[in-house]
Amino acid sequence: MRESINISLPSKPEYVSIARLTASFVANQMGFDIESIEDIKLAVGEACNNAILHSGTDNTYNLEFVKELDNLIIEVVDFGNGFNIEKYRKPDAEELQENGLGLFIIKSLMDEVQIESNEGTGTKIKMSKIVE
Ligand SMILES: Nc1ncnc2c1ncn2[C@@H]1O[C@H](COP(=O)(O)OP(=O)(O)OP(=O)(O)O)[C@@H](O)[C@H]1O
Ligand SMILES: [Mg+2]
Repeated sequence: MRESINISLPSKPEYVSIARLTASFVANQMGFDIESIEDIKLAVGEACNNAILHSGTDNTYNLEFVKELDNLIIEVVDFGNGFNIEKYRKPDAEELQENGLGLFIIKSLMDEVQIESNEGTGTKIKMSKIVE
């Protein structure tokens, strides 16, 4: 059975908790353990932060949570500036840094991550995790 939840949120930090709460609700429903639920919430929060911070003037973004058997698929879609994925460099382990960690965190916590971005039209990040 495939079920999905779609949410459109204002591009403001105070609404990110709705995304995090929905993520924990769905992950809990699917039987993820507490640690994985925390990881999923963190990954979703980082994707939302990016949609809000880097996506420019658009004032909403969309989230989709899909339950597909034992796989949880989450998409975060914004209609902002986008960015050139080719130019993305993962953070340097030698260097202590405060920024530029979001995508790295998402990739470390989720099983699969796909990013599509076009300068001018926006960004879609699709991440998924399978229940152990
Ligand atoms: N939704 C997005 N729209 C436009 N650019 C994005 C988006 N998500 C990521 N980027 C680009 O990719 C870079 C890396 O994102 P990442 O989340 O890893 O780091 P950050 O947002 O700069 O810092 P941090 O997440 O640690 O606060 C960003 O600086 C930005 O240039
Ligand atoms: Mg970020």
